[in-house]
Amino acid sequence: MLVNGKAYRTVWMEQGAVKLIDQHQLPHRFEVATLVGFRDTAEAIKTMLVRGAGAIGAAAGYAMAQAVLEAPASGFADFVKGAAEHIRSTRPTAHDLFFAVDQVLDASLKASTPEAAREAAVKTATVLADENARAGERIGEHGVRLLKSGTRILTHCNAGWLAFVDWGSALAPVYMAQRQGVEVFVYVTETRPRSQGAKLTAWELGQAGIPHAIIADTAAGFFFQQRMIDCVIVGADRIAANGDVANKIGTFTLAVLARHHGVPFYVAAPRSTFDLRTPDGAAIRIEERSEDEVLWVSGRSRQGALEQVRIAPEGSPARNPAFDRTPASLVTRFITDGGVFEPSPQAIARFVRGAAPAAIS
Ligand code: MRU
Repeated sequence: MLVNGKAYRTVWMEQGAVKLIDQHQLPHRFEVATLVGFRDTAEAIKTMLVRGAGAIGAAAGYAMAQAVLEAPASGFADFVKGAAEHIRSTRPTAHDLFFAVDQVLDASLKASTPEAAREAAVKTATVLADENARAGERIGEHGVRLLKSGTRILTHCNAGWLAFVDWGSALAPVYMAQRQGVEVFVYVTETRPRSQGAKLTAWELGQAGIPHAIIADTAAGFFFQQRMIDCVIVGADRIAANGDVANKIGTFTLAVLARHHGVPFYVAAPRSTFDLRTPDGAAIRIEERSEDEVLWVSGRSRQGALEQVRIAPEGSPARNPAFDRTPASLVTRFITDGGVFEPSPQAIARFVRGAAPAAIS
């Protein structure tokens, strides 16, 4: 995607270092961070310098490749397995992260020498990142068929290209629509507490010149009631075998509102987000993050400094689950890199195991 007219990916590897767009600085500053070792990249995932299911998947794959490059010849396998555990422990909910760690780990442990393992690890991480970008484009190709000129879409959090290597999931159909000359409008929920909607999705859409408006999370019901939303498209961090969806906190509320108002609720995700080993939403571990994310807000002051300010009284505690679970019964369709299909266990299994899902319009 283009930033000030220049093509960027969200995360990539250059001569053993991981490069990524610094998501702590956006939308106020555009900076690229360089992470020289696997522990640095793992820390970047943990602190959300890079975030979004697809982007942390790609970063985790590259972090694994860095670990294999760093591993000493003696104790090679133990070092690499330890690094995999370390990277897995950064964030618990998004399946893409675990998928990428496993793929690079398998490729490197299968190699017969450390030299061959290094080559296999870098190649696998690179292929995963390329597939991630290509999956986003395919999601766009399939999802755009659900849109027409004038469609008003509500999206939540950031499931655009900053949450992937390129294109995104929920926003991929929007970018494809623009490419095809189909003019859509996007309502962007602010997405407290970290405000990925107001900070990241709005920035992405602004860079692409797509008409949009940020709304407070609490305003969503009003816009549904006014019949100003034609469909909801959100991303996903993990989709269980039965179709239950873990996504950014607040997604479930929007799904209930959409059902109440008879508005289609689409979940866009690539194959790597589906987890057949997790039977249902109840089995998905939900990350609980620091209460500071609720008690404080960050942004740019009128003087231009990036600052944090406390909005809650001293002494009031907070709870901060980062994700919630939306039951499959509230999902109208999945929009995937393999097609658009119903949220049934059979359709999910067919898709994940490689058979093309029956096309459903
Ligand atoms: O906590 P984050 O910002 O890493 O959350 C992940 C997300 O961006 C969302 O839940 C998103 O909708 C799915 S990621 C494509």
